[in-house]
Amino acid sequence: MTKSSDQGTSLHTLAVRGGEPHSHGYDAVTVPIVCTATYSFASSADIHAHFRGEIEHGEYGRYGNPTVRIAERKLAALEGAEDAVLFPSGMNAITTMLLAMLKPGDHIVMTGDCYRRTRQFLKTTLAKFGVRHSFVPPDDLSALDRAIEPGATRLIITEAPTNPYLRIVDLERIAEIKHKHPGVKLMVDTTLATPVLCRPLEFGADIVVHSCTKYLAGHNDVLAGVVCGDGPLMAGLRDARGVFGGMPDPHGAYLLIRGLKTLAVRMKQHNENAARVAAFLEAEPAVERVYYPGLPSHPDHTTASRLFTRGYGGMVSFHIRGGLEDAARFVDASTLPNLAPSMGGVETLMEQPALMSFYELSPEQRAEIGIAENLIRLSVGIEDAEDLIADLHRALRQVSPT
Ligand SMILES: Cc1ncc(COP(=O)(O)O)c(C=O)c1O
Repeated sequence: MTKSSDQGTSLHTLAVRGGEPHSHGYDAVTVPIVCTATYSFASSADIHAHFRGEIEHGEYGRYGNPTVRIAERKLAALEGAEDAVLFPSGMNAITTMLLAMLKPGDHIVMTGDCYRRTRQFLKTTLAKFGVRHSFVPPDDLSALDRAIEPGATRLIITEAPTNPYLRIVDLERIAEIKHKHPGVKLMVDTTLATPVLCRPLEFGADIVVHSCTKYLAGHNDVLAGVVCGDGPLMAGLRDARGVFGGMPDPHGAYLLIRGLKTLAVRMKQHNENAARVAAFLEAEPAVERVYYPGLPSHPDHTTASRLFTRGYGGMVSFHIRGGLEDAARFVDASTLPNLAPSMGGVETLMEQPALMSFYELSPEQRAEIGIAENLIRLSVGIEDAEDLIADLHRALRQVSPT
């Protein structure tokens, strides 16, 4: 007999139990990886029932997969959304959503320091198809209000926290502005926060997107992305995915489901470790400035404290005293973090944005978008905070012996 599962409302319980039956085929406790490119119908009557929506039945692999569907239901449960659609990467989720939703003549308002590839997509692909955009500073909400063009603006896009300065936009106020303009939707990328720290739908957002590659999967071993929102919007997006072809692989979906089970406990450790590392760095003479929303010195600490009730996340950015070479020497001297892009996994990763994500830009171009040569970004993992701090301390002493 199949037991039904009470999934509760706690994020800890939803992470483990959300979106899945109590047990699976062959009485397995864990989700099966269903490898199939197509699905077999028992009869022509079943085909009729499938197309009339009377039975839940697979049709073809590009339109759906049972392992992928469980990942989607778990993500929707965690976000408090009606539904979710999974993609093979965060960028594929964002670009498919935007292409499915927008048409020539539409206009987007985006807070300026969103993920650079999302901005690039607006500036290149969407502009080519006649979709216009305005960028506004994340802390100037009256500029955001003014940028909305009645009748043309379809979407406000923002991110919380942003990368690398971890700015926290006031989602409640942005949602209030949106409500003044019928027909405008609010899409929020909370990749760095996860639903453990912030659930934008509760603040009035319409669409939530994530790179699941980061904290949601959490182990630096899989690429995935998700869009969460209301049922009709997600049904349209699912259709668009079937046409564009960005269907995630069931193995990747399984890794994501497995990672999600420990999301709430991992985030607790990321929060604690990052808060300790940020406090250590702020007290260090060799460090010029630290950016961590949990520190009272962060420009958005008050907003973060209001919106993020379960911690401030695992990302810490800082300026080391000196220039590009000093920062590079520090990065090379530290031994515990991996020198790698990305974030949100159990392993601590470190990068110097000037020499990684923004390598192709000149120092002047980097300065223009606020990427300092001496900026370091740490994705603090779940190793022992003392070990991390000892390693950072040793590396700082090598760069600045005092
Ligand atoms: C905030 C944010 N959104 C979206 C993406 C894109 O995700 P993916 O790398 O999974 O395509 C990233 C990647 O770094 C990101 O940081």
